[in-house]
Amino acid sequence: MEKNIISLRGIVAEYDGERVLDGLDLDIRDEEFVTFLGPSGCGKTTTLRIIGGFIEPKEGDVFFDGKKINGLPPYQRHVNTVFQRYALFPHLDVFENVAFGLKLKKMPKEQIADKVEEMLKLVNLSGFESRSINQLSGGQQQRVAIARALVNEPKVLLLDEPLGALDLKLRKEMQLELKRIQQSLKITFIYVTHDQEEALTMSDRVVVMKRGEIMQIGTPQDIYNEPANAFVADFIGESNIVDGVMHKDFLVEFAGVEFDCVDKGFETDEQVDVVIRPEDIKVVPVDEAQLTGLVESVTFKGVHYEIAVDGHGQKWIIHSTLSQTPGTLIGMMVTPEDIHIMKKMEE
Ligand SMILES: Nc1ncnc2c1ncn2[C@@H]1O[C@H](COP(=O)(O)OP(=O)(O)OP(=O)(O)O)[C@@H](O)[C@H]1O
Ligand SMILES: [Mg+2]
Repeated sequence: MEKNIISLRGIVAEYDGERVLDGLDLDIRDEEFVTFLGPSGCGKTTTLRIIGGFIEPKEGDVFFDGKKINGLPPYQRHVNTVFQRYALFPHLDVFENVAFGLKLKKMPKEQIADKVEEMLKLVNLSGFESRSINQLSGGQQQRVAIARALVNEPKVLLLDEPLGALDLKLRKEMQLELKRIQQSLKITFIYVTHDQEEALTMSDRVVVMKRGEIMQIGTPQDIYNEPANAFVADFIGESNIVDGVMHKDFLVEFAGVEFDCVDKGFETDEQVDVVIRPEDIKVVPVDEAQLTGLVESVTFKGVHYEIAVDGHGQKWIIHSTLSQTPGTLIGMMVTPEDIHIMKKMEE
């Protein structure tokens, strides 16, 4: 059995009487890379702050390694945080920034030097010891922040959008770097992002949040292939989400056409959301098609064309390696496995 390093039970948080976390339950396993993913304001940072001990939940319990840690101050938790803004000390050089926590602990000087060297090596900054912070690039500053958090040997590292300020290329490099660090140190990373691609690339499991609630917890594959509802499907990748009616098991109607599908267990004629990934719609000759529509626009996206289609008022997005000509009528086809039926969400 894998053990849980952090557990949240019934966590409720409020700011000025307004509820921002509404009863979160979550178990995070030791040595796991878990990502909180969700739109701005959904409560990601608040959840991290509760785990870190910077704010206390209004209701609910936080467990570390099976022990309740409500009320324990941040410095007594085996948890360190890399904040959204790195919060380095600008007047101290790289070495002093990383050494800061160890000096507070009154660790002997030589031991500090060894530890700092080890951490700088880990984040590929050996040789930068005496650089001042404002002589570093954004990515280098970010690495100093990570080294500074890791030097205290936390069991759990909390990272709040640590790569948000970096350009795309550097962000991709740092994603791999962080994953490597996490695997070599064998510690738990709890990572916050609102970038779905980042979440899917880096995580063992993803926690998708919306307005203070968890929508789904799962591996990147689970979340992408079996989204729990239309919100997750939409947030995790581009999707066509259309209104449908589930006539009976394995038979759904949308866009005025009946389709075989693989879902069951709905009420007779239940109103549902039908989710279809843009890459799962095939363009076929009109006389072989299930649906037809007029091509409205075609945009080249590097690996595929994004084709916007108007099917008698119903808009479709298709990703295809073949281009189409705007203004032409095309046929579309979806296999039963690529039709995902979801319960309607109440707004
Ligand atoms: N100190 C505060 N006082 C009052 N309201 C706050 C405070 N901090 C956050 N909030 C509110 O609580 C909600 C959740 O905020 P939180 O910072 O956890 O969101 P987030 O998911 O981290 O968003 P982002 O992706 O923008 O960082 C938001 O509606 C926010 O406005
Ligand atoms: Mg935040």
